[in-house]
Amino acid sequence: MVKASVLGASGGIGQPLSLLLAISPLVDELSLYDVVNTPGVGADLSHINGTAKVTAYLPEGGAGLEKALTGCDIVVIPAGIPRKPGMTRDDLFKINAGIVRDLATGVAKYCPKAFVLIISNPVNSTVPIAAEVLKSHNVFDPTRLFGVTSLDVVRASTFVADVVGGDRTKYKIPVVGGHSGETIVPLLSQISPKVDIPADKLEALVNRIQFGGDEVVKAKDGAGSATLSMAYAGFKFAEALLRAGNNETGIVEPTYIYLPGVPGGKEIQDTVGGLEFFAVPVELGPNGAVRATNPLVKVSDYEEKLLEKCYEGLKGNIAKGVEFIATQS
Ligand code: NAI
Repeated sequence: MVKASVLGASGGIGQPLSLLLAISPLVDELSLYDVVNTPGVGADLSHINGTAKVTAYLPEGGAGLEKALTGCDIVVIPAGIPRKPGMTRDDLFKINAGIVRDLATGVAKYCPKAFVLIISNPVNSTVPIAAEVLKSHNVFDPTRLFGVTSLDVVRASTFVADVVGGDRTKYKIPVVGGHSGETIVPLLSQISPKVDIPADKLEALVNRIQFGGDEVVKAKDGAGSATLSMAYAGFKFAEALLRAGNNETGIVEPTYIYLPGVPGGKEIQDTVGGLEFFAVPVELGPNGAVRATNPLVKVSDYEEKLLEKCYEGLKGNIAKGVEFIATQS
């Protein structure tokens, strides 16, 4: 029996993500939690004749979060405010940091062994926040905490196909680093199947992958950021974990993890200037992250320059998350 929960289930990402989880044969119970509108979203989804039983909760002074999370195997967190035009993901920190702190506290209390998938931005800082909260409750297991960066990988395949043609579903590109602007580093030299990206198109392509989210924010013109593509990408990652949980082998997905706590991560940490959190392709198994793979051993000179910028940006983002929790206690 697998119980999944979506925290922020009534939002732009939360609703389509909950729909995908509700119709997944890998989920037996889906609990929806949000500060608003979950009764309606829950009633709606509960009419689908899928395998998952759908339950829905509002805060109820804390009891709602407890009921939503108790017995959970996997918790996906897209709660928080999204960007408006002109905002960076870091601008969301002020509000979303506290939301993620409180929801991670709920995870620590009610389902400390669950896989936790953080979508709320700025992911570069909210994942360290969740880690610090779990540590403070002595329940931090780095092989079970994931920052969801799948949308960067989804965008990379799509945008590569836009430039070179071919089947956009087939391109695999390791996208490493973090999840905002210049901290997103697509390693196009390692694209598979191998294709030649024209030199005069490379920089614009990398920039589009790094700032692809801005295209959506601009097009939505004040109504938020990516929701449907994010729900797809977030579900893909959750599904990969659930498939690995069913003993399917050979599943490797990119995700932002705590390097020192995952096998293979220490070696990567040494390559990335000691950063504790970094997105790399990670092999998944029934207990979460099995091994972090290191695509940084064979990067091009151009990618090396991108990585230098990424390290600089990530260092500050991670410290900001850690300090946020440190200054509260
Ligand atoms: P939204 O505003 O449509 O939905 C957010 C939901 O969170 C709302 O329903 C709100 O009521 C709920 N919420 C607020 N405080 C809460 C709390 N304390 N507990 C539970 N629920 C709470 O926003 P949207 O578009 O769904 O985006 C959500 C987050 O995901 C944003 O931070 C956004 O930046 C991020 N995001 C992340 C991406 C990624 O690749 N990791 C991509 C796109 C967005």
